[in-house]
Amino acid sequence: MKGLILAGGFGTRLRPLTYTGAKQLIPIANKPIIYYGIESLVKARIKKIGIVVGDTAQEVENMVGHGERWGITISYIPQEAPLGLAHAIKISRDFLGDEPFIMYLGDNILKSGIDEFVRQFQSNKPNALILLTKVSNPQEFGVAVIDDKGYVKKLIEKPKKPPSDFALVGVYLFDKQIFTAIEHIKPSWRNELEITDAIQWLLDNNLKVESHIVRGWWKDTGKPDDIIEANLLVLEGIESFNKGTQKDSTIHGRVQLEEGSHVEKSVIRGPVIIGKNAKIRNAYIGPFSAIGDNVIIENSEIECSVIMEGAHIKNLEKRIDRSIVGKNVILVQSNDSPRTYKFILGDQSYVEIIK
Ligand code: TTP
Repeated sequence: MKGLILAGGFGTRLRPLTYTGAKQLIPIANKPIIYYGIESLVKARIKKIGIVVGDTAQEVENMVGHGERWGITISYIPQEAPLGLAHAIKISRDFLGDEPFIMYLGDNILKSGIDEFVRQFQSNKPNALILLTKVSNPQEFGVAVIDDKGYVKKLIEKPKKPPSDFALVGVYLFDKQIFTAIEHIKPSWRNELEITDAIQWLLDNNLKVESHIVRGWWKDTGKPDDIIEANLLVLEGIESFNKGTQKDSTIHGRVQLEEGSHVEKSVIRGPVIIGKNAKIRNAYIGPFSAIGDNVIIENSEIECSVIMEGAHIKNLEKRIDRSIVGKNVILVQSNDSPRTYKFILGDQSYVEIIK
């Protein structure tokens, strides 16, 4: 069985972060999102992975490489434009051949991993296996109607009146019938070849589509709040270690201090991860924060946030909460005159100031 990870797309909902980088490389607990998908596939003993890439191809390839570090082979499949999940499968035909495969959306994280689904697929040999989870807002997802044996009866994309609250999770297993299905579908109103239409074609042609309900959490990191939430969920499961140094500081709960990091006159309340060579002085780092490599935080308080590598945060009077701070961003409070705000913000940045 092969793996197909989708890492193209525009990531419009994550601007401005996606103006300068691929959304699949945004760090969750200091690790690029796409690594979670790759590691799930590796754990399920997939040895050959194809990654579908778009405009950010080079950056993804530079970061992920060709699989040596996981003992697998990774190849790259360029997609000329994000023309849909089914389009991504269509252009991967040469890589996939006639083997069954697992498709994993490169911006999704699943706590439970995928071993169970792979086993179910291999023993029952359906034409497709989709993963489902109960959500409170099914109108925002692809929704499945299933019978009491778990067979899928119908799929509906973002229904106004959802017939069930089972949403499609971004992991799918297929046999080669999916290529025939994709040949028969037309682009949707948004000009994408929709995977839900291809699976519906399988159903309409009496092919077997099974479902599996996901245990544990699943997160699609499409929007900024999802990044913060995914970071929180991953940090919830970390173990402590200390490869850094500390002086006159209090560290509570599960905290990871990476090599070269230094914490001084500060309070760290886990779960927190502090990256390599990060320096924390006179600061408070509260639960569910991921502080990237080479970050400097001085005289400031941070909670439940993702601070990416190289950022500097100094002398802020008020606490930063539920925020995402991009690479090398500088956030300082100065006492210089005139007492004005000074911003150099890229397009679609978001700043919220309190009195
Ligand atoms: P989406 O989140 O549906 O799309 P997007 O990344 O373009 O984001 P936005 O809606 O904010 O503009 O995509 C899910 C995953 O699949 C994501 O990792 C990108 C990838 N993808 C492709 O590789 N090719 C495609 O044609 C599409 C639609 C998505």
